[in-house]
Amino acid sequence: MHIEFSRFSPDQTEALVDFLTGEEWPFHAGVQEASAIRKRAADGLYDDAESRTFWLLADGERAGLVRLQDLEDGTPMFDLRIRQAWRGRGLGSAAVKWLTTYLFTEFPEIRRIEGNTRHDNLAMRAVFRNCGYVKESHYREAWPAPDGTVHDSTGYAILRRDWESGTVTLPDWHDER
Ligand SMILES: CC(C)(COP(=O)(O)OP(=O)(O)OC[C@H]1O[C@@H](n2cnc3c(N)ncnc32)[C@H](O)[C@@H]1OP(=O)(O)O)[C@@H](O)C(=O)NCCC(=O)NCCS
Repeated sequence: MHIEFSRFSPDQTEALVDFLTGEEWPFHAGVQEASAIRKRAADGLYDDAESRTFWLLADGERAGLVRLQDLEDGTPMFDLRIRQAWRGRGLGSAAVKWLTTYLFTEFPEIRRIEGNTRHDNLAMRAVFRNCGYVKESHYREAWPAPDGTVHDSTGYAILRRDWESGTVTLPDWHDER
């Protein structure tokens, strides 16, 4: 399978609407309405100083979407979505490896990249681990879902020095008596 990443441009807004509304994204808060997506795109929220968005093209098809966020905050975060039909074939892991290299290369000043996911999003948590990210946080009952249930939230991050050396440094979880 040939994988490439292509930067979103505003003239692709309708394709973005189709992508985001074409199926359910149960680990994302709320359903995104087409009108809200169009407004966000018109306001530049998918590509501005703070964020950049990329299509993941698998054999030329729009199989996934990567949105890089908080680019001016020192610690970028990201959102990743792979369409159902393409999951379980390594695309999520390929996307996180790609965006990690992209961010550390494009932004020499950043030391770390963070990502959060719901506790029961086992596929995303596997992707983080596959890509050298380390679990740093676990917030209990911090993730209200649209159906009224509340879930734990987990946070992962990768350090530039680990990315450069291919190591994985774990936090010291035993620093209290
Ligand atoms: C999470 C997501 C990006 C993963 O993409 P993907 O292309 O399926 O990822 P990969 O194929 O690279 O890897 C999936 C991993 O999850 C594991 N996995 C999948 N379903 C699982 C489950 N129900 N329980 C445990 N592990 C699971 C796979 O075994 C694989 O791990 P491995 O490589 O160690 O074997 C994709 O499922 C997705 O877009 N989900 C909806 C949106 C979302 O949740 N985004 C994350 C928001 S933070």
